[in-house]
Amino acid sequence: MLLLVFVVLVKSCLCYSDDDLGYGLSIGNSIDVFANYGDLSQVTQVVSSDYEDEVSEPIEPFREKNIRVFDSIVVRETSGDKQVDMNIQLCETFEDLLKTYFQNFHIEGTDIAWKAFLGDWVPDEILRSFGMDYDSTPDNCCFVLVKISKTHKSVEIESLKKMKAKVYVQRAIDRLNVTDSTAVRRFMKSYGTHYIDSYVTGNFIYQVFKYKRSGYNLLRSYIKLRERRRSNSDNIRFYFSSYFLKQVGDIRIASGNKSVENWARDNLKDSQYLFSRPSLLRLHYNPVLAVKLNHMLDNEALLGLSLKTLKPLFKDEYMGEKFSEIVENDLKLWEVNA
Ligand SMILES: *[C@@H]1O[C@H](CO)[C@@H](O)[C@H](O)[C@H]1NC(C)=O
Ligand SMILES: *[C@@H]1O[C@H](CO)[C@@H](O)[C@H](O)[C@H]1NC(C)=O
Repeated sequence: MLLLVFVVLVKSCLCYSDDDLGYGLSIGNSIDVFANYGDLSQVTQVVSSDYEDEVSEPIEPFREKNIRVFDSIVVRETSGDKQVDMNIQLCETFEDLLKTYFQNFHIEGTDIAWKAFLGDWVPDEILRSFGMDYDSTPDNCCFVLVKISKTHKSVEIESLKKMKAKVYVQRAIDRLNVTDSTAVRRFMKSYGTHYIDSYVTGNFIYQVFKYKRSGYNLLRSYIKLRERRRSNSDNIRFYFSSYFLKQVGDIRIASGNKSVENWARDNLKDSQYLFSRPSLLRLHYNPVLAVKLNHMLDNEALLGLSLKTLKPLFKDEYMGEKFSEIVENDLKLWEVNA
């Protein structure tokens, strides 16, 4: 009897070797986005959070289960910047802020990638990971996201031409009835929905400022004007003065490294604010501090990720279309419920 159970188990196994299974970041490998939809931030390092339990382990940019489904992938790798890079982004609403924060994350089949990463988090938790206090009267205007980032490397699939399914996946495809959506969903659970088409790793430090509408509008005009004139005059600090602000968020780091966050809190105080709040703007005016930070930004966070549906896995075009149709429909449903 036991033997029989064993035989049945072996027959229904996926039959990929251990070499094909991993939890690290491997270009071209496939994941099931529904396995952790709404909570992908838990298995990727994209935002700072308050878990204390992971301190002893090294932080990895990506920890989601993934498998190798393609043979012969042609990859292009570019190494990143030596210097940190500051950018200031204006967001009309909190939802806008989430979109902006996740603008380098793409999941084919949805335009709202942030929901896959944070959709299941309670608002309070999301606010905290952006360094903001709970706001009992949340009015929705306006937010400014300041980011200082350092790219370590970018990796992307250069060509799809030679890509084909690995033998064990091809066998499953040969058996698959694509008009049977239950069978397709079972296939998705076993072999994934999307493959990793590109990613960027590095690290960045960020801070959110909540603005009064009037101050926000002034900052926006100033930035527009500066871009148009390409002027070197730099008066941006003025637009971050407390007179224009409702709330200054805590400085956070994408890797969640608390010692860097503490360093920022102690070293980036800007006395321009009423209570001398830490501000990333200080790095803009202080090259010595910027160099220090530059050394602290390592390769522990995910700065960008592009996932595409496993459509190219199917040699048969109709099968590929059917498959991605079901994936994309399911994504829409999950999105509405997140
Ligand atoms: C494929 O699935 C559809 C829908 O469940 C079913 O009607 C059809 O008979 C199946 N085809 C084969 C070859 O099993
Ligand atoms: C946090 O960053 C500091 C400074 O770069 C580094 O020395 C330390 O190893 C990092 N800690 C973890 C847990 O990665």
